[in-house]
Amino acid sequence: MQRIQVSLKVNGKKYRLETPPNRTLLEVLREDLGLTGAKDGCSSGECGACTVLLDGRAVNSCLVLIGSADGHSIETVEGLQKAGMPHPLQKAFVEKGAVQCGFCTPGMLMAAKALLDQNPKPDEEQIRTALAGNLCRCTGYTKIIDAVQEAAKELRYE
Ligand code: FES
Ligand code: FES
Repeated sequence: MQRIQVSLKVNGKKYRLETPPNRTLLEVLREDLGLTGAKDGCSSGECGACTVLLDGRAVNSCLVLIGSADGHSIETVEGLQKAGMPHPLQKAFVEKGAVQCGFCTPGMLMAAKALLDQNPKPDEEQIRTALAGNLCRCTGYTKIIDAVQEAAKELRYE
């Protein structure tokens, strides 16, 4: 089968790889780079468990063909912690009880990060809208919204 060369920057690190063109960014992250934080919940853009940032924008990586990620910058949940310290979002999710089974959590964290990078002081409605594509079967969402508000405060040093 035909193969293509792809260059990616993932969590600040550069990768060059060769792959059949019909694979998704999610598959390459998980299978080739060993970054298994992004989850495959539905493979069809319905659940948000595979959310990563592509040039700062939250995307469903199960819908991104690897060729269209060529030359772009990707952030995954593995890149959130810095120097062994959890990101304020990770801390707040744990403290507010926003993690239960955890399957949706990496995607939620990345969708929330994309929001807070753009809007440091979102109201509840804006958080709900930003996370609308991310499904959680466990928490009922309220604790997730609280956690995002808490992290936003910490990031604003309030
Ligand atoms: S696995 Fe991508 S949206 Fe569900
Ligand atoms: S914590 Fe289980 S799906 Fe969200």
